[in-house]
Amino acid sequence: MTLTVTPSGQACGARIEGIDLTQDLSNHQIAELRQLWLEHKVIAFPNQALSPEDLERVAQYFGDIGEDPFFGHIDGYPNICAIQRDADEKTSIFAEIFHTDWSFMDIPPAGTALFGITIPPHGGDTLFADQVKAHEEMPDDLRAKVEGLTAIHSAAFGYAPDGAYGSSDQESGRSMQIKPSEKARETCAHPLVREHHETGTKALFSSAAYIQRFEDMSAEDSQALLMELYVHQTQEKFQYRHRWEKDMLVIWDNRSLLHSATGGFDGYDRLLHRVTIADTRW
Ligand code: SIN
Repeated sequence: MTLTVTPSGQACGARIEGIDLTQDLSNHQIAELRQLWLEHKVIAFPNQALSPEDLERVAQYFGDIGEDPFFGHIDGYPNICAIQRDADEKTSIFAEIFHTDWSFMDIPPAGTALFGITIPPHGGDTLFADQVKAHEEMPDDLRAKVEGLTAIHSAAFGYAPDGAYGSSDQESGRSMQIKPSEKARETCAHPLVREHHETGTKALFSSAAYIQRFEDMSAEDSQALLMELYVHQTQEKFQYRHRWEKDMLVIWDNRSLLHSATGGFDGYDRLLHRVTIADTRW
């Protein structure tokens, strides 16, 4: 079978057809897909009727299974979590802020695999923002401010007991299994500009979603800079808007991108299964 690769025509992203992911892939096929993933940063495979076992197997073509520190999992599959919102749910849209997954970890995940199961007829797109382009196209004054900065990451904003998905959110009827914890307050330092160890490219790594402040900078100055950066990082010219289909698998590179969920599907269920892909090093 020959692969058909259709770039999105936006900042990043490609659709890949001509491969059956329900079957074991050869080393040659895996190498080809990994190359496309690194090149396009987010790749989408339509019409793949994957079982949970298939989803875990395909994710492992891209790296080992990673941790999901604050999520529950689907029954019988400790590596798969459900990104889920019920039709009548009134909670906030989960992850509706540009972020990169679990950037507060010592070795943050290389990628994420997300598989569409119940897709609403409208809304619920996922937005991606290319952070290699955002780094390349930084205005000189912003570049001068971020040069050499170390960012302090933490999950507290979302997952501490008083965070956005903390105790009060748990009482508001969220269907997705989230496990807030005091551990979310732990911090981890990473350079703001990250060199990708597989491609050698430089990217802005993470956002105000997980970055609390910068080393050797006051909280107030850090917040101002994080907001200025967020506006720059998430400009439409760096974005790819992904429209979901049932039985579509999407795999993205967390080292090169930010992503954000979107709403617009009240009255409809939305369910996707997610596997986190570990990295081998920073
Ligand atoms: C996520 O950030 O993992 C969720 C993305 C989405 O629901 O579109």
